[in-house]
Amino acid sequence: MFKPVLISLLALLTAACGGDSEEAERPGKNVSLPVDRPVVTSRWFTQAQVRAGALLFGENCAGCHGPEASGTPNWQQRDAEGRLPPPPLDGTAHAWHHPRSVLRRVVREGGQKLGGSMPGFQEKLSPEQIDQVIAWVQSNWNEEIYQRWQKIDQESRGSR
Ligand code: HEC
Repeated sequence: MFKPVLISLLALLTAACGGDSEEAERPGKNVSLPVDRPVVTSRWFTQAQVRAGALLFGENCAGCHGPEASGTPNWQQRDAEGRLPPPPLDGTAHAWHHPRSVLRRVVREGGQKLGGSMPGFQEKLSPEQIDQVIAWVQSNWNEEIYQRWQKIDQESRGSR
């Protein structure tokens, strides 16, 4: 599976260099290539979950949290009634401190029971849909934030 990709990549590189012969020396042989790029690790969710989650987020969450999950700039400032505005969920605020069990619970139950204003979605979204929406939310997180979250999540489950 890996090999054909590599071969077609080399073919592309050769083409890009304008070299038309396949007998040419392997391109890039004596060139030093960058080695410090971040490694994309596998996450718990699939592309299909992210795609489904994007639709669900648009329908159910974007009205408060923003279409890019960027929330409210002053998300830590309570209003006159002591309520918090919808926070960003894009990895810049606090959401990544919660293990998946807590993220699921927040979406299921909302924050109203705790004096907040987010409605619960357990009657509207199935557990699978809640996971899809969380997958989309987490697809916005950069690798560093995701890794930090993963550690918190694993610790909350008594590490694997
Ligand atoms: C009516 C506005 C509103 C809607 C709709 C809404 N939220 Fe929220 N959300 C909030 C507010 C406000 C908070 C802060 C806690 C509170 O007041 O309940 C919050 C908190 C959260 C948190 C916790 C964030 C943190 O930093 O701890 C998550 C996760 C979250 N929302 C996800 C979602 C998802 C996913 C949806 C859609 C299924 C959604 N919310 C829909 C207003 C909303």
